[in-house]
Amino acid sequence: MEIRQNVVMFVGKGGVGKTTMSAATALHFASHGEKTLIISTDPAPSLSDIFGKDVGDRETEITENLYAIELSFDEVLRRWKEKFGPEIYDVISSFFDVDYDIVDYIGGAPGIDEEFMLDYIHGIFREGRYDRIVWDTAPAGHTMRLLNFPSKFIGHLEEASGVYMKAFNYMERVKGLGSKKKKPVFGIIEGWKKLAEETAAFVKDDKTVGYIAVTIPEFLGVSQTKRTIEELKDFGINVKHLIINNVIKKPDCDFHKRRMKMQEKYIRELSEAAPEITEIPMSADEIKGAEKLRAIGRVLFG
Ligand SMILES: Nc1ncnc2c1ncn2[C@@H]1O[C@H](COP(=O)(O)OP(=O)(O)OP(=O)(O)O)[C@@H](O)[C@H]1O
Ligand SMILES: [Mg+2]
Repeated sequence: MEIRQNVVMFVGKGGVGKTTMSAATALHFASHGEKTLIISTDPAPSLSDIFGKDVGDRETEITENLYAIELSFDEVLRRWKEKFGPEIYDVISSFFDVDYDIVDYIGGAPGIDEEFMLDYIHGIFREGRYDRIVWDTAPAGHTMRLLNFPSKFIGHLEEASGVYMKAFNYMERVKGLGSKKKKPVFGIIEGWKKLAEETAAFVKDDKTVGYIAVTIPEFLGVSQTKRTIEELKDFGINVKHLIINNVIKKPDCDFHKRRMKMQEKYIRELSEAAPEITEIPMSADEIKGAEKLRAIGRVLFG
């Protein structure tokens, strides 16, 4: 497997090995001298467990060139409010007599946290402090919602601009409110729209963001993986790599022989799902710590 993009995103259903593959990939980049950040946005992050080090919501050094952060949507929302809260208050308070609490209220709108999670990651990419950003996402359904959000947000803002414009014209006429405030407020709305357009373009830019699907060779894994890859394609994203995890390679008992047979069928079914497929053997041991992750990295990257 060869990955050229600066941002690598792992998608797949729950429990198939996204965090394990993300960690192995991040460690691989880091040990080749690339400064790497692994971000987990899973509501139940497990980077701390896998690296055996407390991670949390600040960039934490794991080893040479490797940094990790476990970011909750709450934390992203908090940072978002810090960054945009005053602007939002400006916009709203120019129409209505409201408290600053309005910012919390808006931040609670469905999808806002997703929009700003993407904006946050886009921001880290733009800062250019890292050669690689490896993103360990939440299970697939949530990720699709996440990727879909910027376009919805743009639509909403376009609608909102129209509404605000009418309201302003009305206030100007009826209340004699000057156009002094109009310009900055529209500037702010335009700014948000631009931001959402940039994030929408960012997630679809295949020179920058690479998507890797992870699955297991079992019925549910196969059907959901094909569906996710299709959904991404409809959305304009091509998944080039597929990792089939937990493959039984050397069965030493009847139980495992039967399971291997079962898996073979699903592996065949997956053979057309992506141009490049890598199988990762099921390990008898727990996958924890650098040594085990490096072994997986060797299978992934040769
Ligand atoms: N190839 C493998 N062999 C053996 N165990 C594995 C393998 N890959 C992953 N595991 C184990 O399976 C469990 C689930 O893996 P992981 O946490 O990476 O999945 P995930 O997709 O991130 O899950 P979630 O959706 O819950 O975040 C972990 O305990 C991990 O150690
Ligand atoms: Mg995980």
